[in-house]
Amino acid sequence: MAIPPTNPAALAVIDRLMARGAAFLGARYAILGGAMSWVSERHLVAALSNAGAFGVIACGAMEPDRLAEEIRGTQALTDRPFGVNLITMHPRLDALVATCIAARVGHIVFAGGIPPTTAIKAAKEGGAKVICFAPALALARRLVRSGADALVIEGSEAGGHIGPVSLNVLAQEILPTLGAEVPIFVAGGIGRGEAVLSYLEMGAAGAQIGTRFVCASESIAHPRFKEAFIRAAARDALPTVQLDERFPVIPVRALQNAGTKRFLEHQAAVLARFVAGEVSKEAGQLEIEHFWAGALRRAVIDGDVEQGSLMAGQSVGMVTQIQPAADIIAEMVGQAAAALAARGHVTGS
Ligand SMILES: Cc1cc2nc3c(=O)[nH]c(=O)nc-3n(C[C@H](O)[C@H](O)[C@H](O)COP(=O)(O)O)c2cc1C
Repeated sequence: MAIPPTNPAALAVIDRLMARGAAFLGARYAILGGAMSWVSERHLVAALSNAGAFGVIACGAMEPDRLAEEIRGTQALTDRPFGVNLITMHPRLDALVATCIAARVGHIVFAGGIPPTTAIKAAKEGGAKVICFAPALALARRLVRSGADALVIEGSEAGGHIGPVSLNVLAQEILPTLGAEVPIFVAGGIGRGEAVLSYLEMGAAGAQIGTRFVCASESIAHPRFKEAFIRAAARDALPTVQLDERFPVIPVRALQNAGTKRFLEHQAAVLARFVAGEVSKEAGQLEIEHFWAGALRRAVIDGDVEQGSLMAGQSVGMVTQIQPAADIIAEMVGQAAAALAARGHVTGS
């Protein structure tokens, strides 16, 4: 294990800085494993929770029965707390919340949009803590008023679907204003412990990390998917390019490959047919949206790293090897402690 030497006094300071977030999660460390569709299933989630972080199952498009099975599978692998991430536009959101409650999941993370207040209420009445993604200060305030127990602020550095604002700016806008009110977890581009430390010092309760955990030995991602992460640099993880404003594209940060090039050609072809009057705007928009259907699964599970979607954050450059989840976590906590110790304000062996 390539874990930096630690300084007990510095580690005690890290524990103090993480105390609120860790207590909220019921975990040793205030580190959430960001839910990643297809990647964040029972093995990675349980490995993260067993290592003292907080794993989160990515429900994605799963139906309630399938989610219940995944929760049971995770419970069989860990007795530590973990959460479930639900996408708010899932047509069976209420049933998925009920599934989490029935399985006694302690934390539900609502992603992909502002959750209906009914879903927040149902989760809380069922005894779960609610975590919501807040893409801006006004929405963060609204989510707290609606009952969110904690927030994730995810910057555009992140992998997967992204907003337009960097974590650097979101943190400055939201942490000083709402950080005392609810625990706020920062996400996007975090690859090392020094960054976690700096956000904790700004008032974050903890961090949510995705990309850095893709190459955990316990992650079921295909070896070719992991290899692509290990090879890639930060500049390879780019947001989707939208060719024409008449055909909006939801920005997703991913490694560039043959698929991303083909997506540009696909947009150009749809646009040309639209201009020629051969396809309606609505039909053209659907054709563009359908391009990536199933593409993440193809990359993560089947290993099609050419045509599949290689969603990755800018922190991908800091992924250099396959290693156990526990080592990644220990490495990051060690980096944070070493950074503190190097300042000379904390003493210890
Ligand atoms: C491959 C991949 C799939 C993802 N899928 C989801 C998802 O299903 N739901 C979600 O809320 N976030 C998803 N995310 C975002 C992560 O939960 C997390 O917030 C993000 O990875 C943090 O940024 P980082 O990758 O720079 O650490 C995904 C990210 C990646 C890299």
